[in-house]
Formats: sequence, structure tokens, C-alpha cells
Amino acid sequence: MTAATPLFQHSSAVGDFTIRDVIEGQTAGQLIVAADDWGWWTTLLGGDTIAPTTGIQQTVADGLVRAGFLTRRGHRYHLTHTGHDVGKNRGFVRVAVRGWEPTFRQLSDSAHREYIPAATEPGEVARGCTDIARRRPEIFAAIGRTIAADTPGRTIDLGCADAGRIMALTESAPEETFVGVDIEAEVIDTATAEFARMGLSDRVTLLAGSVQPEAEPPAWLSAVDRESVTTAMSFFLLHQLASDGEGIAAVLRGWMDWFPNVRRLVIGDGYLLEAPHWTGQPWFSPTYEIYHSITGVRLWTREEYEGAFADLGWSVARRMEDHTMLVTTILERE
Ligand SMILES: C[S@@+](CC[C@H](N)C(=O)[O-])C[C@H]1O[C@@H](n2cnc3c(N)ncnc32)[C@H](O)[C@@H]1O
Repeated sequence: MTAATPLFQHSSAVGDFTIRDVIEGQTAGQLIVAADDWGWWTTLLGGDTIAPTTGIQQTVADGLVRAGFLTRRGHRYHLTHTGHDVGKNRGFVRVAVRGWEPTFRQLSDSAHREYIPAATEPGEVARGCTDIARRRPEIFAAIGRTIAADTPGRTIDLGCADAGRIMALTESAPEETFVGVDIEAEVIDTATAEFARMGLSDRVTLLAGSVQPEAEPPAWLSAVDRESVTTAMSFFLLHQLASDGEGIAAVLRGWMDWFPNVRRLVIGDGYLLEAPHWTGQPWFSPTYEIYHSITGVRLWTREEYEGAFADLGWSVARRMEDHTMLVTTILERE
């Protein structure tokens, strides 16, 4: 090997994937999600080992060993370095393998179409997104600290899914009350029951409905004391609402009309990063881009988000990047 030969060849040519990567990658994704449903990643990332008790569990554990995610010592299985990375990022795997599968499946019958309507598994997307948020607890801690440092108010999460983010904030901002809204009524019902079980119903109200600003205000809005809302948050939804509607500023303007006293925005979204080949972008980014492109939802650049924020008089108080393309911005009114 000459000194100029890189040890790890970072392929950026066309044809990055082999047939083996395609087939085994798909199976590895299924095993990762199953192991997650059995609570294995939580156990392993918590520093414990797992011990399969059935034939099925044994096969999955051995598959995860072959994939390089676990090592076996006697009856017990430990995380490898790669396994640690996979476990931390299992939310992305769940979204792609389970959440978006019904959309990708439709491609086969859709050659004649311009776009495919997104057909997701809402519970899987919700859980995957909450796991994605959990992998960077410091981002959440920063949001909680910002809210807690201010006079107590009401924070609304627009497109809250299973309200995993609200759940985290109830601890870090203990004086704040919360409202969460999502279009998936079943996901809202399940999360409402969970908050009741935890004795948090007096601090958290979850409502089903659309948060897309339209000519007529949505029905759920009448159940909210609009004047009391001081922080509006939205994660991984603005790009879609902006595509379906009139752009980023139009959606934000709609929310500002609904909540006249809002003094803080917290916006998380995936930004558009362009590169011609898979390996030229961060992992998950090509999948994310292709999913949105087939459903007709466009992605927006950092300049487009920040231009809209500035046009509406919001200034960036804090900008936190996760996985390069996922950006959370805390904004305050100038
Ligand atoms: C990618 S997920 C993000 C979930 C959550 N905000 C998070 O980051 O963990 C998008 C969420 O927006 C919800 N959603 C989609 N269209 C919506 C709309 N028009 N109004 C309210 N929620 C919507 C979906 O049901 C889904 O829960």
C-alpha cells in the first residue's frame, strides 16, 4: 500500500451499493426494529447485556452479531461500537423501515403519477421521531432551560405526534403548561391516556386536528386560550406545511395570528442538503430527500428558513445542529 492510499476508501462514485448491501441491509433494518420493540436497545444502551430466552430471540441476537452490532459472551450479548451507534440512531431505522414503507411500496403502481400521497404508519413515525429527538438530550435540555428561565407560560407543540417532546419538557420546565396538536387522532388518544396515567393531565392538553393555517381557523383552536400561548414549537413538519401552503413565512404568519402573544418560536426541521450521490450527503439524507420528492413535499434550505424568520421579525437566539441536516432553532422576537 502506498502512503497515498486511504485506509478507508470513502467511495463517492456512482454504484456505491452492492447487491449484498441491499439485501442484508434490509434484513438488518428489520432485526433492529424488532430488537427495539423488545426493549433490547434501551437495555443495551443502559449498560446492561441481554440474554435471549426463545429460539426467535436467539436468531435475532445472532443476526445482530453477524451484522456486527452485538458480541456474544456465554449466554449474554453486549453492544459493539457500531451497535452503540445503531442503537442510538434506531429512530431513523424505524421511520425508514416501518414508517415510510407504505409510501415506498406504492412506487410499483405509480409510474404514471407525478406524486404519491404519503401513506405512513403514523405510530411508527411518531415513535421513530421521538427516538430521534431523544438521541440528543442536550438539545432538549437547552429548550427546557430557555423556557424555564422565562416567566411561566404555555408552550404549544404543533404536529406533536406522540408528544414525546412535551413529555421531556414537563420535567425540565416544571412551571410551564403545554398543548400538543397533531392530525393523527389515534396517536393523540394513546398519548392522552399516557399523560393521564402519569398524572400530568392538568399540565398537558392534547388535541387532534390540522395545524395548517387556512382561511377558517381550525376547530381545535377554540379549545385553547390563544392569548396564553407564549412559546410555539414545531418539529419536522414545517417543510410539509410550507410545501402544501404558501411557503415558510405564510405558515409562521398564520401561527402568529393564532397566538398573538407568542414571544418564542422553536423550530426543528430537516434542511435540504444537495449532493449528486448517496455518499456525498450525510446518511439518511438521500432517503429523506427521495421520500419527500416522491410525495411532492419539497425540502427547504437553511437560507430559506432564516430568510422567513428574519422577514417576520424573529431573530435566532440559538441554533443547534444534529446529524448535519437536522436543525433546531430557538427564535425570539426582535
Ligand atoms: C415527521 S412527524 C414529526 C413528529 C414530531 N413533531 C417530532 O418531531 O417528533 C410529523 C408529524 O406531523 C403530523 N402532521 C402531519 N400533517 C399535519 C397537519 N396538517 N396538522 C397537524 N399535524 C400534522 C403527523 O401526524 C406527524 O405526527
